[in-house]
Amino acid sequence: MTQQGLFLTLEGVDGAGKSTHIPFMKQVLQDHNIPVVVTREPGGTPLGESLRELLLQQPMRLKTECLLMFAARNEHTQTRIIPALKKGQWVLCDRYTDASYAYQGGGRALGAEQIRVLEQWVHAGLQPNRTWLFDVPLELARQRMLNTRVLDRFEKEDVEFFIRTQQAYYDRVHQDPQRFYMVDASKDIPTIQKQLKTELIELIENWRNAHT
Ligand code: TYD
Repeated sequence: MTQQGLFLTLEGVDGAGKSTHIPFMKQVLQDHNIPVVVTREPGGTPLGESLRELLLQQPMRLKTECLLMFAARNEHTQTRIIPALKKGQWVLCDRYTDASYAYQGGGRALGAEQIRVLEQWVHAGLQPNRTWLFDVPLELARQRMLNTRVLDRFEKEDVEFFIRTQQAYYDRVHQDPQRFYMVDASKDIPTIQKQLKTELIELIENWRNAHT
């Protein structure tokens, strides 16, 4: 595909706080006249949002969970992400395939190989240009989750699950360090936003230089 816009994703264990920062990032991009589509996974399309309901609430076999994540992702990638990027829009997506490596591959201990096969099938040739990994001590993540919401099927998992999930995220960073920005998500919101703004402005400047 000929990609013109940038594909940006946010990742991290539940409770890392990434969702708080998405409106801020959208605003920074808009302030710099970057057309941006904000979306999320699982979800991002009517079918994907229906699958999300099932995925977050309904007990199911691990392979089923993994296939439904990628079913939702296929709709999302083909009908929203690729068309937006081709039009020159930037896509800011709350989770993508790194989450499958982390949660299904790591947390649920499926391993990376099966995920890699599905990744190749569903979006060979498309990777996020940049990914922010919101990194947080797991005890703090758990406290934030318990204070702010009714827990879904993933959030109810035990600490061992999240240790494996977080480790799988670190493995992803290790395999492709150029793609990741690390965010110390235990810091306060203004400090994190300052970092995000600096990184976004740098991306915008580089992108403009490459497109003029
Ligand atoms: P999340 O993005 O944290 O949404 P919210 O902030 O509304 O809780 O929730 C999505 C959940 O789905 C999260 O627990 C991780 C899980 N997930 C996977 O297990 N695999 C995937 O491939 C994706 C995209 C998400």
